[in-house]
Amino acid sequence: MSDHFEQGMQAQWMPFTANRDFKQSPRVLVGAQGHYYQTRDGGQVYDAFSGLWTSGIGHCHPKIVEAVQQQVAKLDYAMSFQIANDQAIELAAKLTDFAPIGFNKCFFTNSGSESADTALKMVLAYHQLKGDKNRVHLVGRQRGYHGVNFGGISVGGIPANRDLYSANLLPNVHHLPHHHDLEHNAFSKGAPVWGAHLADALLDIIAEHGKQAIAAVMVEPVPGSTGILPPPVGYLERLREICTQHGILLIFDEVINAFGRVGDNFGASRLGVMPDIITTAKGLTNGVIPMGAVLVTDEIYNTFMQGPGHMVEFFHGYTYSGHPVAAAAGLASLEAYAEEGSIEQARALEPVFEEAIHTLDDHPLVIDVRNFGLMGAVELAPREGEAGGRGLEAHKKCFWDERLVIRNGMDILQFAPFLNSRPDDIHRTFESLRKVLDSIA
Ligand SMILES: Cc1ncc(COP(=O)(O)O)c(C=O)c1O
Repeated sequence: MSDHFEQGMQAQWMPFTANRDFKQSPRVLVGAQGHYYQTRDGGQVYDAFSGLWTSGIGHCHPKIVEAVQQQVAKLDYAMSFQIANDQAIELAAKLTDFAPIGFNKCFFTNSGSESADTALKMVLAYHQLKGDKNRVHLVGRQRGYHGVNFGGISVGGIPANRDLYSANLLPNVHHLPHHHDLEHNAFSKGAPVWGAHLADALLDIIAEHGKQAIAAVMVEPVPGSTGILPPPVGYLERLREICTQHGILLIFDEVINAFGRVGDNFGASRLGVMPDIITTAKGLTNGVIPMGAVLVTDEIYNTFMQGPGHMVEFFHGYTYSGHPVAAAAGLASLEAYAEEGSIEQARALEPVFEEAIHTLDDHPLVIDVRNFGLMGAVELAPREGEAGGRGLEAHKKCFWDERLVIRNGMDILQFAPFLNSRPDDIHRTFESLRKVLDSIA
């Protein structure tokens, strides 16, 4: 392996990474256990991001490792079209039990991006099947992240993910304003009080395109990848109300929020607002094997179940939908969450995390600190003429000087502590960050 290190380093085109910068100081992991990664230089680093929002109960969790090892030797792959496998069937039962009441059906995917595009296709098809032929418009939100496939970037609202494709994005997509506002909400703890009225922008979109034109609204309940933007008190309730009044389906993208990240099984249950469709991935298998799922109500599923009985009802699916090894990892993860009380542990850690992250409120480089559940962001003032530079430097210094993995999205430093973190480690994370911020210009 080491013979090919330099060659491979140059050969690998890294995702969502400043490749040229990275290759000058590669941060390479070779192992993981619990809350730590092992690095190529023989050291270890503390993971303050739970993988990539994925690994809430820690890396190489013994129960999940064992389930995967056994399953891969028993049924490595099973054709996913026209044939089912026992693991996917059992996971469908357990996942719909774990989901909020009414989400009785699930469609398996392999990632959050695939879940997003699957859900978007479902809502468009649903209205066509209902005879509501004009409901072809989709509504997302500025700064929304729904993965990187064409549906997801069209409905998503992150300019850098969209700009080069603007001529080819999905048509008939509109965006609500985002609800992040430093003037009103900076340094909020939990849900900010200002901003519920921003949901009313949906009424303007409805007025502009017609009463029966909108198929669905898709939002992350607590947006993550854009830099953690907790929803204002009352905002999601208002969005739900308007959708219901106008026959619009509401999709919650819970790829990050689900599985304990916001202190409940799902963001919908924590926030007390029920959508019509929920998309998931990441924590479904604790990150061990790629897998996603789209959860829907009976009403949506039954709408598809029409036409001749021998015909495929939804012309959609992936070779690896319901992959037996991924499903085994999903089953073991759900069991571990229940056995270890992980969701309750996460909820109990919230005050610790909130207190720790807000110790950075007074730092001169910091323009905002925000948190919800076990999601948090420390936003740095951008350097003049070098937006993102300070954030990347902080990320690298955390890794090399403090042996700490954090994520930066431009100048927003993001944190996702493990659901079963030790409180001391959470405090130490922000003490380390303070040292790093003190050392950079
Ligand atoms: C809300 C949301 N949706 C979709 C995705 C895309 O997931 P994936 O990278 O597994 O395709 C992500 C990834 O972070 C996400 O946060």
